[in-house]
Amino acid sequence: MTLSRQQLLHELGITPLWTLRAAPAEVDAASLAVAPAPAPAPAPEPASDQLAVTNADAPIQGALPPSALASKDSPLLAVDALDWPELAAQVATCQACPLATQRRQAVFGVGDQQADWLFVGEGPGAEEDARGEPFVGQAGKLLDNMLAALALDRQQRVYIANAVKCRPPNNRTPEAAEMAACRPYLRRQIALLQPKVIVLLGKAAVHSVLGVDKSLASLRGQRFEYAGIPVVVTYHPAYLLRNLPDKAKAWEDLLFARRQLSS
Ligand code: URA
Ligand code: SF4
Repeated sequence: MTLSRQQLLHELGITPLWTLRAAPAEVDAASLAVAPAPAPAPAPEPASDQLAVTNADAPIQGALPPSALASKDSPLLAVDALDWPELAAQVATCQACPLATQRRQAVFGVGDQQADWLFVGEGPGAEEDARGEPFVGQAGKLLDNMLAALALDRQQRVYIANAVKCRPPNNRTPEAAEMAACRPYLRRQIALLQPKVIVLLGKAAVHSVLGVDKSLASLRGQRFEYAGIPVVVTYHPAYLLRNLPDKAKAWEDLLFARRQLSS
């Protein structure tokens, strides 16, 4: 059954938000289509994993030190020179961290290589490990619904990737060292995709991309930057499935992200 947009919004628990709190332009379903923003000038990649923060009121300190893999000896240094197929091939055979030993397959990502939106999750779960695609389980269904409410889908104008490409055993949170090992791949994906906005889903993605280990509540609603690309933080869909009232907050975050995209 295909849900109408109204049913979809109701399903997401966001209809009251639309009628009570959203600006009129956001209530109009037709306005969900985002006008293409002018192509940004290609931004230089960050020299390290340092976080660039544009919110002057809330400078964030404590970016992670450059990963050990950024040493001269690391074969992963070459990652920054790979094209998309080479990158996918390298990830498929990667042994750079212990997660390689228990995966069925690495999960590179899914979507449009011309994406405006990049969503970054934590790491593959059991279903993702089996199917080789991110966010195909229950959390993925919610993510798909959220995309649909923005008139987006995972094949068009959207790319979905994870902080680590291989499944952590028992779906545990990836360790900092594992995320550091995998970060060059995500960094290269971002450099090649050049999305217009990056949405970080949950704490692990925030930790990996922004290098900060803070509560999501303290980071929501701010515009960060990574290599000149706006970055917005929101809750992970798996968290939202356990905390349904926060879906409305996630919706606010997505609307905020959409505003960063065109500015
Ligand atoms: N959770 C994630 O963070 N990523 C996935 O791909 C699936 C579930
Ligand atoms: Fe390599 Fe990333 Fe998989 Fe670790 S999680 S083995 S760094 S692809």
